[in-house]
Amino acid sequence: PSMQNISGRTQLERELQQFLHIPHVIVTSGNSDAQPWVKKEMSRACVDEMIQTLCPEDVVAVAGGTTLATLAESVTPHPNLKQVTFVPARGGLGENVDLQSNTISAALARSANAHYRLLHVPDQVSDLAYESLTQEPGIQELLELIRSPRMVLHSVGDAYTMATRRNADEEKLDRLKNLNAVAESFGYYFDGKGNVVQKEKTVGLQLDELGERQKVVTIAGGASKADAIIAYMTYRPSDLLITDEGAAEAIQSFA
Ligand code: F6P
Repeated sequence: PSMQNISGRTQLERELQQFLHIPHVIVTSGNSDAQPWVKKEMSRACVDEMIQTLCPEDVVAVAGGTTLATLAESVTPHPNLKQVTFVPARGGLGENVDLQSNTISAALARSANAHYRLLHVPDQVSDLAYESLTQEPGIQELLELIRSPRMVLHSVGDAYTMATRRNADEEKLDRLKNLNAVAESFGYYFDGKGNVVQKEKTVGLQLDELGERQKVVTIAGGASKADAIIAYMTYRPSDLLITDEGAAEAIQSFA
């Protein structure tokens, strides 16, 4: 990349930090909607961040999706990662197994030569089953790890795209449309103003319980995710946003 491109991106990063109230934004080149290699670029930035931040014994909660799946492919063993434990942020959310957080946290651990724990909780459970499952000592212990990790790695998706990918029926899609849902993350759906308009029933990390000790890293790129990124960051600005030029320029046009 030319010097001009680099300084242009630095400028974009500063503008996004201000507009989204995020302490740190990294913008990589390209647009992941059109160029698959861009997810690799974003992943490399995330790996650098993981190496800088993480210490042995740290717990990292990871979400699902294609962006995080690319991250799992991009990690390589490093002394700072080898004693880390990766845990899924949530139970399954009706996604293809390759994109579920259990699969991705195991893949991350394998690539990093680190540890992982699986959350064995099915997708759709009755209220009664949900209550008794979360009382199980093994699951409770894991939930404690999941709810107070050192780092959270996740992406944000467009609400409609995510609901469709999870095989939502017409009625659910209509409901989300009526609620003006534009973003999805961790099974929460958000409207354009950053209000939570719907929650999927799933066991795991609770967004509202995240505090100062958790470094939340959002990796989300592609111009098509601009609305979703703005909505999510209005609800809860992350500590670090790793995005691409495609999304960054689209977000900037809203500023
Ligand atoms: O399903 C897990 C998840 O992290 C969602 O919360 C998010 O909306 C989505 O994946 C992002 O998927 P992708 O990286 O494929 O765009």
